[in-house]
Amino acid sequence: MARPQARYVCTACGSVQPRWMGQCPDCGAWNSLQREDAAAATPFARRHGLQGGGRPIELQPLDTEVALPERLASGLAELDRALGGGLVPGSAILIGGDPGIGKSTLLLQAAGRIAQAGRRVAYVSGEEAPAQVRLRARRLGLGQAPVELASATSVRDILTTLSAGPAPAVLIIDSIQTMHSDQLEGAPGTVSQVRASAFELISWAKARETALVLVGHVTKDGQIAGPRVLEHMVDAVLYFEGERTHQYRLLRSVKNRFGATDEVGVFAMQADGLVEVANPSSLFLTDRSGALPGAAVFPAMEGTRPVLVELQALTVPVPSGATPRRAVVGWDSARLAMLLAVLEARAGLAFGGHEVYLNVAGGIRVTDPAADLAVAGALVSARLDVPVPAGTILFGEIALSGEVRPSAHAVLRLREALKLGFVRALVPPGTGGLGGMETVAVQRVATLVDRLGRA
Ligand code: TYD
Ligand code: MG
Repeated sequence: MARPQARYVCTACGSVQPRWMGQCPDCGAWNSLQREDAAAATPFARRHGLQGGGRPIELQPLDTEVALPERLASGLAELDRALGGGLVPGSAILIGGDPGIGKSTLLLQAAGRIAQAGRRVAYVSGEEAPAQVRLRARRLGLGQAPVELASATSVRDILTTLSAGPAPAVLIIDSIQTMHSDQLEGAPGTVSQVRASAFELISWAKARETALVLVGHVTKDGQIAGPRVLEHMVDAVLYFEGERTHQYRLLRSVKNRFGATDEVGVFAMQADGLVEVANPSSLFLTDRSGALPGAAVFPAMEGTRPVLVELQALTVPVPSGATPRRAVVGWDSARLAMLLAVLEARAGLAFGGHEVYLNVAGGIRVTDPAADLAVAGALVSARLDVPVPAGTILFGEIALSGEVRPSAHAVLRLREALKLGFVRALVPPGTGGLGGMETVAVQRVATLVDRLGRA
C-alpha cells in the first residue's frame, strides 16, 4: 500500500504544493505553507476499476421543475441586498473580514431580527462566552430577542445538540477558525481543521435546510487559515470591509451561487451597532459649502447603486532636479501615473515639476473605471488652482489617446447626482441627458483643461 504522502497547503489561498517553501508561489504570501498529510490513495481510485463496490447514482435531466426555496429575510436590508435577496435555506454563506471590523456585531443583529420575526436561530460563538455575547446583544437593543446562544468549539457537540430538536432556520458559527472537528488531528485554525469543520457543518446544514453562516477572519500573517481556503466550499462569500478609523462598512459579495455578485451593502458603525445606510452618498460627500480647487465629485457605481464620492487632489511645486512624489489613497497609483502622462501628452499640462497627492474622501476605495474624468478634473483643478464649478459632477473613462470614452449606467449616475442637488455633469460624448441636469460632453482631456481653465 502507498504511504500517505505529505503535501503543503497555503493558509492564505489554499493552493497545494509538493514541498515546503518560504513563500507561496501562487499568492505570494510568506510563511503560509502548512503540512497536511494526504490520505492514502486506494487501489480502487488508482485503477479506476469498476469492482470497487460503488453504489449507482441517479442521473437526471436538466429541465425538471424545481421550486426555488423561499429566501429568508435577515431583517437587515443591506445584508439582504448583498446576498441578492436574503438567506437561501440549506446554503452556506461565508462572511470574511479583518478582526474587529464588525462581523460578530452584524451577525448578532441579523440573528436578533430573524429571531424576533419568529424563526429559530442558533448563534454559536467559539470566541466569546455567552455572557459577553449577551452583553453585546443588550447594547444593541436585542436583549429580549429569542436567539439560542452557545459558546462551543466542537463541531460534533454543536451538531449533536442541534440535531436533537427541530433544525434552526439559521445557524451562525463565529468563527470557523475556532471550530474543531474530531475527525482529524490538528489544532483549530489549521487548513485541514478549518476545511473539515466547514465540511461537516455544511453537509449538516444542507441536509436540514438550515442557512449556515460562517464567520472567517482574514489574517495577514497566515498564522491561521483564512477564508480563501473555504471560498470554493460555500455558496456565497461576502467580505466585510472598511477602515477601522472610519464609520462606514461595506459588505461586498464576491461569490454567490444564487444571485449577482456585484451587490454591495453599506453600513455605518455606531455606538449602538451597525446602522444600514440606504443612501450612501450622504456618507462620502463632504460638506460642500464652497467649491475649492482640487476637489471633484464622482458618481461611482457600487454594485447596481450609484454612490457619490469626492476626489481630492493637491499639487505642490518641487525644486528642479528633485523627483516629485506621487501619493494615492483610495485609487490605483498606476492609473494615476497614466492619467498624468495623458494630461501632459494630450493637453500640454505638465506635472513633472509638481508633487501630486490624490485622495478619495471618506476612506472608500474607487475601482470604477469611469473615475478617470473626475480624477483628471481634480488634478487639472489643483494644478491650475481653479475650482471645478459648484454643483458639477464628472465621469468617463480616459483612453491613452486622451479621448473620453462612454461609461455604463450613465442615467443612474446622473439621477443620483440630481437627487443630491447637482445641476451639471461633464460626461463622455454620446451620453443621454436627464431633465433638470445640464450635461456637457467632453470629447478629450484637452477640452476638460480648456473648460476648467476658463472657469
Ligand atoms: P466585532 O463585531 O466584535 O468585530 P469582529 O467580529 O469582526 O471581530 O466589532 C468590533 C468593533 O466594533 C469594536 O472595536 C467596537 C465596535 N462596536 C461599536 O462601535 N459599536 C457597537 O455597538 C459594537 C457592538 C461594536
Ligand atoms: Mg467577532
